[in-house]
Amino acid sequence: MSQTATLEVNGNKYEFPIIKGSEQELAIDIKALRGATGGVTTIDPGYKNTGSCQSAITFLNGEEGILRYRGYSIEDLAEKADFLEVAYALIFGDLPTKEQLEKFNNDIKAEAHVDEDVKRILDGFPKSAHPMGVLSSLTSALIAFNPSSVNVDSEEDMYQAIVKIMAKFPVLTAWAHRKRMGMPLDYGDDSLGYVENFLKMMFKKPNQEYKKNDIIINAIDKLLILHADHEQNCSTSTVRIVGSSHAGLFASISAGISALWGPLHGGANQAVIEMLEAIKEDGGDTKKYMGKAKDKADPFRLMGFGHRVYKNFDPRAKIIKVAADEVLGDLGIVDPVLDIAKGLEQEALLDQYFVDRKLYPNVDFYSGIIYRALGIPTEMFTPMFALGRLPGWIAQWREMRLRKEPIGRPRQIYIGETFREFKNLNDR
Ligand code: ACO
Repeated sequence: MSQTATLEVNGNKYEFPIIKGSEQELAIDIKALRGATGGVTTIDPGYKNTGSCQSAITFLNGEEGILRYRGYSIEDLAEKADFLEVAYALIFGDLPTKEQLEKFNNDIKAEAHVDEDVKRILDGFPKSAHPMGVLSSLTSALIAFNPSSVNVDSEEDMYQAIVKIMAKFPVLTAWAHRKRMGMPLDYGDDSLGYVENFLKMMFKKPNQEYKKNDIIINAIDKLLILHADHEQNCSTSTVRIVGSSHAGLFASISAGISALWGPLHGGANQAVIEMLEAIKEDGGDTKKYMGKAKDKADPFRLMGFGHRVYKNFDPRAKIIKVAADEVLGDLGIVDPVLDIAKGLEQEALLDQYFVDRKLYPNVDFYSGIIYRALGIPTEMFTPMFALGRLPGWIAQWREMRLRKEPIGRPRQIYIGETFREFKNLNDR
């Protein structure tokens, strides 16, 4: 029997259906609320209690620390699949067959070039520009060079736009890095895998042969998989809401990049290392910073700790902690900043304030550590996150289009001035 929820407003009772997801999650369907009640709405800043859509892409259970893409556990995917297979599964719904994967890979390789004129746009940015701003702008600029990417009313047009952005985004990310480092811009080598090719585009020095390192390739592959989707987070919701106006894929992704930039979201991995460096500069006293994090009068927060939905542990952090230990061990890295990270991690896990509030290291705590160990500059951490999140954004955008979702347009409760007489400039 279908369940309902009853709401009483000013003595009148209203019934709303309760819908159930495939993992038995319940939601009160309030689509009819305003119509039935004559304009009563709900208010939920930060959307902590609000589902914005029904989605078949990612399941996560924050209490139990479960994360699955298309039903596959993040643990299995991180161990057994590579990033491109995971991207395919996220976007198209199932793990690819060998043939499907080969086609996807080849179609991406065929599009892995960027118009030479994009280099002139990149040239216009100062070297000091944050690469997230550069990436967001260049992704938007790609629309001008690929006007057909906007017409995505057919599945085939969508596929072409998807392949193009999957192909060109790693080039733009590597270029944003090379520009900052004063290195010549380079195109990839299509004999290499997606991740290896990206790393070569990032790090190849003009005067040296590029030497591949499997430890680094595997660690980055894993990190990209772990970041590939996370259901309706801030940047993904942004991608869906921008796409809901029927803006094209590239415009929606560009908006997602901007949303991801913030330190409370994707920018946290950069903020983690900046915090660790600041602690080191200040004498390395982790206890002092633990105290600041707990002091309500102090705005300081321990970056890389806490999560909006994971309130026991972040399953991605568990996997990546092992990878971080391996990378540091295998590469023989000794770094006082990373020692501070270890110290903070140990103290926070035992500290009552953090235990009571269920604040655990999140994926960004460890991803920042790995990126630093691999010699990736701090400001490139969030672009690395964006590269990983790209398939998730694409999948969510595609789902939103295929489900023909309405334009996203939340309501508000107005708390400003009521009607006021207009006063002429001289009378104010
Ligand atoms: N350091 C110190 N205290 C914290 C922290 C932290 N990192 N995070 C939360 N708290 C405290 C809050 O002050 C609050 O305390 P109170 O109950 O005494 O008032 C309590 O824990 C709950 O915090 P909220 O901000 O309400 O939790 P919310 O779910 O809204 O925020 C967030 C989650 C934004 C991730 C927060 O934990 C935070 O700012 N963390 C640091 C930034 C960070 O690492 N972001 C990355 C998120 S992961 C990602 O985007 C991939």
